[in-house]
Amino acid sequence: PNVDLTDNVLTARLPSGDSVTVYLYGAHVTSWKTSNGQEQLFLSKAAALDGSKPIRGGIPLVFPVFGPPPKSHATGQLPQHGFARNSYWEFLGKNSSESLGRKSDDSVKLDFGLSNSMLDDGTRKKWPYEFGLVYSVTLSKGKLECQMHVQNKGSESFEFHVLLHTYLAIKDISKTAVKGLKSSPYVDKVREAKTFTEESSSLSFEGETDRVYTPPTGQGNSLVPLVVTEGGQESFVVTRDSLPDVTVWNGWVDKIKGMGDFEPKDGWKRYLCIEPGTVSSWTKLEAGDAWEGGAAYESKL
Ligand code: BG6
Repeated sequence: PNVDLTDNVLTARLPSGDSVTVYLYGAHVTSWKTSNGQEQLFLSKAAALDGSKPIRGGIPLVFPVFGPPPKSHATGQLPQHGFARNSYWEFLGKNSSESLGRKSDDSVKLDFGLSNSMLDDGTRKKWPYEFGLVYSVTLSKGKLECQMHVQNKGSESFEFHVLLHTYLAIKDISKTAVKGLKSSPYVDKVREAKTFTEESSSLSFEGETDRVYTPPTGQGNSLVPLVVTEGGQESFVVTRDSLPDVTVWNGWVDKIKGMGDFEPKDGWKRYLCIEPGTVSSWTKLEAGDAWEGGAAYESKL
């Protein structure tokens, strides 16, 4: 694989033609292309790429809090969605798949790190815990895997959320649906954050959608895969590891109109956020302990 890091932007390309771009600001994946040259992620044309604010589109990384931080919680002073997406990470290195027992050019794993000592002073004061994050992005043919490792390096416990705020590129939201959510309870932020149960085996979109699903587990307590379909054809399969929740978000016309960094304005038709996370309850990490979780996106078209 060819890996290049220039001006805090890392690009990796496999001989198959698959490629990924990651900004060290936020360890933010801004592009994932498959071998046919197709971009799989939606990135706003007005996204700030200069580190002045979180990047709109791609895969924003959410840690240690999802959404507006609850005032009464230890994360209460942090910005919306935490600090992972607006901090500079370091590139820890690449691992091609030789070590994973596959042909060496078949995949590439990129590791990024963030620890408390790298945060700006203001953020460190707002969340004064000692932690180490390793975020691994693994590219293989038709597939992108994102894995987060959280370590508590301090002497007191802390609580966190993790979420991959992935903006999938789709052709037409009116022809897009999500399978795998039937019977799942969800909190609907568009309807006063009340809890409902999903009745549809194929969720389609007719307006602003902002829901946090916690799908029932499958056999052997496994997390069921989610399947995105476009015009009835499978376009993405999303598998999860230790991320029990899935936020499904599309801002539709009005919400997107109000977002200064979202362009073009009709771009709401061409993205769908499928966000695996652990956000419906806090994960508590004792001093010295570690947690790991992630998701894989497979492109099927
Ligand atoms: C989603 C939330 O995950 O993120 C939405 O459920 C929110 O409520 C959206 O609007 C975008 O958030 P932000 O902070 O990137 O504008």
